[in-house]
Amino acid sequence: MRNIPSVGALSSALGLAREGFPFIYNRCRRFQSDLFEISVPFLKVVCISGPEAAQIFYDPERFARRGAIPKRIQRTLFGENGVQTLDDAAHRRRKEMFMSVMTPENSQRLSDLLHDHWRACIKKWEKQDEVVLFDELQALLCRVACAWAGVPLVENESQRRGHQLWQLVDAFGAVGPRHLRGRWARSQTEDWMRSIILAIREGRIQAPEGTSAYTMAFYPDFDGAPMDAQIAAVELLNIVRPIVAISTYIVFAALALHEHPEYRERLQAGDEKERERFTHEVRRYYPFAPFLGAKVRSAFDWRGYHFPKGAMVLMDVYGTNRDPDAWKRPMEFWPDRFKEWDGSAYNFIPQGGGDYYKNHRCAGEWVTIETVKIALDYLTKHMQYDVPPQDLGFKLSRMPTYPRSGFVVRQVRGVN
Ligand code: HEM
Repeated sequence: MRNIPSVGALSSALGLAREGFPFIYNRCRRFQSDLFEISVPFLKVVCISGPEAAQIFYDPERFARRGAIPKRIQRTLFGENGVQTLDDAAHRRRKEMFMSVMTPENSQRLSDLLHDHWRACIKKWEKQDEVVLFDELQALLCRVACAWAGVPLVENESQRRGHQLWQLVDAFGAVGPRHLRGRWARSQTEDWMRSIILAIREGRIQAPEGTSAYTMAFYPDFDGAPMDAQIAAVELLNIVRPIVAISTYIVFAALALHEHPEYRERLQAGDEKERERFTHEVRRYYPFAPFLGAKVRSAFDWRGYHFPKGAMVLMDVYGTNRDPDAWKRPMEFWPDRFKEWDGSAYNFIPQGGGDYYKNHRCAGEWVTIETVKIALDYLTKHMQYDVPPQDLGFKLSRMPTYPRSGFVVRQVRGVN
């Protein structure tokens, strides 16, 4: 058996804080290896990177999620006892619930809602001198997410709720005040969703059948009974929160259009495939999820190394999307690379890999793709805007990250 290249716990903690997203990627390049160990007392932590690593990571015989997600992430980003923490039959049942709302009818409804809300926003933005796109998108997507999911929302609440939902995401790599804001936002948003679930169950609110709120209020869980209202609230947030988080990808798409203006014309003239390639490249190139954690469920060997039962494994999402063996010119923004993409479930994993039903791969990947594609239509065809000088840089050491200015636009003009 070979010895896994190893780094100290303290230097890893400092390295992660300093480097952020490329932490695993940088060490794998340095060691010329697709894995290395962090020597933490009493716990084996192994970081793995690349498509072949992803393939083993998504083997449920080898890995389990139970006990793998730190409490601080559950108390902010995910909530406790949600689908992310389940394995085996319990996970399959819960995942089926998520996938059951991803129907063609709901897809059409999402698209209609996005068009309506983008049009309304452009009319509003035309009257403003300046718009911070990131803030506006959180409110826009909050309105869309709630309407789509069957969650009642008073119009003047969308800014506040959108921001709260974003704070859940903004807390995931944070310590100190940003983490505390995320915890506060979690308690506020869970109270809100729990009250909706209870009101639907008691008939005080009519959520249309087929919506996420209706589904989560009544879906029989793995024990055959409807979920506890608190867990249903956590799961309903697992729908509306990430829809608001797509604001990050849209702002990055606006940044990509600004920095690569040649794509504006291509997208205006181009077809569906053109938009899809651009959307994929935004999701590949711009960082969102840094890595994913799971625990070894039964010991196995891989690449001549031993993975003992109970070891914590961190799968490198950022680095796998830039793996030099899988991607040509990985550090360039180049949507045309997707003309030749093999469609593998393991080399392009911005929202996880493997199978939607059997693995933990993101239930909302098509929602994300559709939402970004429609945003591209509005950014390139249905509105014109000026981009004043501003700080568009984003820090790789901040998780999550986005352009510091939030992408300010001026002189918005609607185009029919
Ligand atoms: C899981 C990313 C949007 C619902 C995940 C995972 C990632 C991810 C990395 C974990 C995969 C794993 O553990 O193996 C993203 C990103 C998004 C996004 C970057 C866009 C900014 C969405 C949307 C929805 C959604 C729009 C719902 C409408 C979920 C759910 C899970 C999940 C329910 C848990 C799946 C499971 O544990 O089986 N997502 N996601 N996500 N995502 Fe997303």
